[in-house]
Amino acid sequence: MKLAFFDSGIGGLSVLHHALKILPREEFIFFADEDNVPYGTKTPAQVLSFVDEAFEFLAAQKVSAIVVACNTATSVAVRKMRTKYPLPIIGMEPALKLALDTFPARKVLVTATAITINGEKIRRLIKRLHAENFSELKALPGLVTFAERQEFASPAVEEYLRGQLAPYDWEKFSSLVLGCTHFNYFKDTLRKILPPHVRILDGNAGTVNELIRRTNLTPQPADVRPSVKFFYSARLVTDAAELARLGKFLARLDEMEDIT
Ligand code: DGL
Repeated sequence: MKLAFFDSGIGGLSVLHHALKILPREEFIFFADEDNVPYGTKTPAQVLSFVDEAFEFLAAQKVSAIVVACNTATSVAVRKMRTKYPLPIIGMEPALKLALDTFPARKVLVTATAITINGEKIRRLIKRLHAENFSELKALPGLVTFAERQEFASPAVEEYLRGQLAPYDWEKFSSLVLGCTHFNYFKDTLRKILPPHVRILDGNAGTVNELIRRTNLTPQPADVRPSVKFFYSARLVTDAAELARLGKFLARLDEMEDIT
């Protein structure tokens, strides 16, 4: 089955990385909108038009499902895309429910882009989970810039995160939720900064499970090399240096995988 994964940039590789392990026999397309990244600092109207264009391209590839591996694009555009395209469209949801179900007694810090945090979708989620007194929201746009330039664990990354996370009284928190797919590259620095009882959670497994459910696929043994075509804003990536750049992101995700 041909499956598309879409993100503003390379954050969505973290969801693809998980899917490749579980569904290695499927045929994957990864679309990174490198011409327009970052989305999180733009207006919702701009993001909607970027997503519209990307979907037009992906639908023309005759894919069987599209995973919007971007919380920001999900927040702004997934409802609209579902009305336009009659195929399974799976969005991201910050793992707030997982955090509250696992650790009911303490608060959750949901980190994301400014668009996600200021959006209606996250408000509705908090309301639905009755999490008004058990959640706080924090935008970390700097991490998107660091990720895109492959600056994963530098002194500047650490200083940025220490500064952004300093105001929180961590005794009150059980977990930090990665509500932006670009944030998965920084789990080691986050682990270093956060007290041991604060767990780092993401929505990647939940999204891939939903993809499996909606496509009636079943998990497969890891005995084949998955097939993936990468696109930067509708341009097929064939250049060896660019493919090596993407490989470096996937290798980084291998290293981050078991950090919680
Ligand atoms: N990776 C995206 C997300 O999950 C968006 C990052 C950006 O482009 O600002 O929200």
